[in-house]
Parts: sequence; C-alpha cells; structure tokens
Amino acid sequence: MDKFIIEGGHTLTGDVHISGAKNAVLPIMAASLLWPDRYVLHNVPDLRDTHTMAHLLEIIGASISFEAGSMQIDTTACRNPEAPYELVKTMRASFYVLGPLLARFGKCRVSLPGGCNWGPRPVDLHLKAIESLGASISLDSGYILAEGRLRGATIDFDIRSVGATGNALMAAVLAEGETILTNAAEEPEITALAYFLQKMGAQIEGIGTSTLHVRGQKELHGTEDEIVADRIEAGTFLIAGALAGDGVRIAGVCEDHLTLVLHKLEATGTELRRRDGLIEVSRAAEIHPVDIVTTPYPGYPTDLQAQWIALMTQADGSCIVQDNIYRDRFAHVPELIRLGAQIRLEGNAVTVLGPTELIGAPVMSTDIRASASLVLAALAAQGTSEISRVYHLDRGYEAFEKKLAGLGAHIERVPASL
Ligand code: EPZ
Repeated sequence: MDKFIIEGGHTLTGDVHISGAKNAVLPIMAASLLWPDRYVLHNVPDLRDTHTMAHLLEIIGASISFEAGSMQIDTTACRNPEAPYELVKTMRASFYVLGPLLARFGKCRVSLPGGCNWGPRPVDLHLKAIESLGASISLDSGYILAEGRLRGATIDFDIRSVGATGNALMAAVLAEGETILTNAAEEPEITALAYFLQKMGAQIEGIGTSTLHVRGQKELHGTEDEIVADRIEAGTFLIAGALAGDGVRIAGVCEDHLTLVLHKLEATGTELRRRDGLIEVSRAAEIHPVDIVTTPYPGYPTDLQAQWIALMTQADGSCIVQDNIYRDRFAHVPELIRLGAQIRLEGNAVTVLGPTELIGAPVMSTDIRASASLVLAALAAQGTSEISRVYHLDRGYEAFEKKLAGLGAHIERVPASL
C-alpha cells in the first residue's frame, strides 16, 4: 500500500486546476446502463472509483475506453444485470446500478454495499423508492433481488439522500407515467445527473430543486456530456490555501456550488480574491475559529468536515464541528491528535482547541476525506509526516500529490513495493 512522505512548513503558491466531480461521474456512468447506446463523457477524473465503476459496467456487458479525461461507454451488449459483492463492497456507489438495471431489464441482482469505516450505510431509502415504483424486492444471501415493471409514483423521501435520489430518478425515467420525488437531494451532482438524463431524452422538471417531476419515456438514446467540476476537491484546495497558502490560484471552480464554504472561510479571516474565473486564496495572519454543522446541500458538506477540522487546529481559539449527516464520521480525529491537535469528541460533534503546533508523525488514512484532512494537517505541521494507506485518497482525488507539489508542497508518494 502506497504512502505519502510530507515535509511540512512550506508555503503553497501558484495555480491548480480542479478535476471533474467523482460524485457526478459515478451516477452518470451508471445512467448509461438505462439504454443500449453509445455515450461519451469528458472531464472524467482518473480515480480508483471511476475505474471501479468502469469495471462494474464491463462485468454487466458494457465496453469502455478511457483516456486523457474522455470516456466512451457502449452499453448495447449489456446482458448481465448483476453487481457482484466483491466489487460493491469496495465502492458503495456501485449501488447506483440498481435503478438503471431494473428499469432496463425488469430485474436485477445487486449486492448490498455493507458498511464503511464510519459505520453502517443503510440503503432502505433506495429500496423504498423502487418499491414505490412497483418493484418487488427480496434479499438473497446479501444480494438485493429486484423485479417488476415500473410505474410512476409519488416518492416522499423521509430524509435527504443523494444516492437514493439518484437511483429513484434513474428508475423513474423509464417508468410508465409520472413520478414525483419530494425532499429530493439538491446536491450539484444530482443536478448534473438530471441534466445528463435529460440529454438522454428523459423528461424531468424541477431540476435543481427538491421536487422533481419525471414523465416516463418509452425510449432514450446515447449522448455526450462534460462532467461538472468537483466542489469537494475545490473545497479541499481552498482549505489547503487557508492553512498554508500565499496566492494559491484555483481554476475550474464552480463558485455557486461552494457558497457556504466560501462564507465560512471568509469568516475565518482567510483572504479570498475572485478574478477571471479563478479563486485566489491566502492564509490569514490570524485564523479565527468558526463553527460548522454539516447538512444536506446547500448546507456545509459532510465531505469537507474532516478538512475543516484540520484548518481549525490552527485557529486562535476553540470551535465546534458537528456532523449531522454521518454521526460517526470522525476516524480522522485520533490521527490528527497524533500530529498534536487538541480535539475533544462528544457524540456527533468535536471541540477543536487552537492554535496548536502540529508536529510531523506517522498517521493512517481511514477513508477518502479523512486522508485529505491528514495531508492538510501534515502540510501545516513542523517536520516530516508519513501517511499510510493512501489508496483511500486515490479513490477520490486525481493526482493529489502532484497538484500539491505543483503548489510547492514537499510531498512524495512511496510505492508499496519499497
Ligand atoms: C453521497 O453518499 C456521497 N457519495 C458521499 O460522498 C457523501 O458524503 C454523501 O452523499 C452525503 O453528501 C457519492 O455521491 C458517491 P446519502 P450517499 O444517501 O448517497 C442516510 C465521498 O467522500 N441514508 O446522501 O451514500 C445516510 O446514512 C463520499 O465522496 C439512509 O438512512 O449518502 C446518511 O446519514 C463519502 N438510508 C444520510 O442518509 C439510505 O437508504 C445521507 O446519505 C440512504 C442514506
């Protein structure tokens, strides 16, 4: 397993370009299963997760080519509506194939994803949604068997769920009649999925809101699309700039997707300048402590919670970071404490005492965003840190260490074999 060696204390400056969004390309790739045709995607990030999803589509029968950020998908030969456990257990987003496979083939067998490092990740909302559309669901040795002709329905989500909204939306576009989704997720990645489905010929109204109206179609067709910029990668680099930056210029950011994050950064005293579509970020002389509570979009994203804690270790005072989406998403806290952070965990919130001097040490990644948080803290630490199990980070960040080194960070990847 590869690791990173980071020598902290170096200022970041210069230009970095944000890649396409992992959480948009994964459902969009799944959507190509809905109709046998050819699809071309641009600005696709080269991530472990995009390769995992490509492998899953190939197991189902698609043929895929992927180079230089463009991906061609041909789903005309798909015959095997099944997503195996060996693959689904490595990436929860594999569950996105449930809706499209059921809509196209009338039945499918998809492994339950199981848990992750921060606890159970239920799929009850996904299953309730497709049952509302007329599917019959049964459990067969850890696999969901879904079968039935889909008919339009009203689906009221009890809580906001990105994945369940995506699965329900994809199933609904081929269901007979009209489907209304209420309390649907409004994340930009779901909006991107909805626009992609529209380009495939789906009839969807209310895109970008929490109420989606779908009129089922008998036919769809292939299309071409550009993947939206990754707001979580952009937020990660903004926080890196707030920690150690002097003129970090971030290109390719969709500012509208980060409104609250930008406001929170400004409240810390971080210097943000917008020009020519770039955001330039520099560390403040004094970083003010700012509380955050994660909530569904457009609230503060849970995927930037760990990174915010790293920043708050340098704030002049204490603050509270609360995660209302995943109450246990704090595996990064003990690792940050190894670097010298002073953090107290109580329930689904932490109190971060700052400023603390961070000292380089060996630490271990536990999930995608926890890994990013450890890298950010190591950049701000004195001395050398070693971050193990960076395969977690490779799932969701494209060429992360190269982008950081391009900004002046002293970061090196040590391949597992050495
Ligand atoms: C998506 O996961 C993202 N993944 C996650 O990003 C992100 O953290 C999450 O949304 C929240 O924004 C992808 O888009 C591939 P949810 P998802 O369904 O769809 C509960 C990353 O780092 N819930 O919106 O699985 C759930 O437990 C990843 O890129 C149910 O109770 O998240 C959570 O508390 C990590 N039942 C809340 O809803 C369900 O059936 C929101 O989860 C589904 C979810």
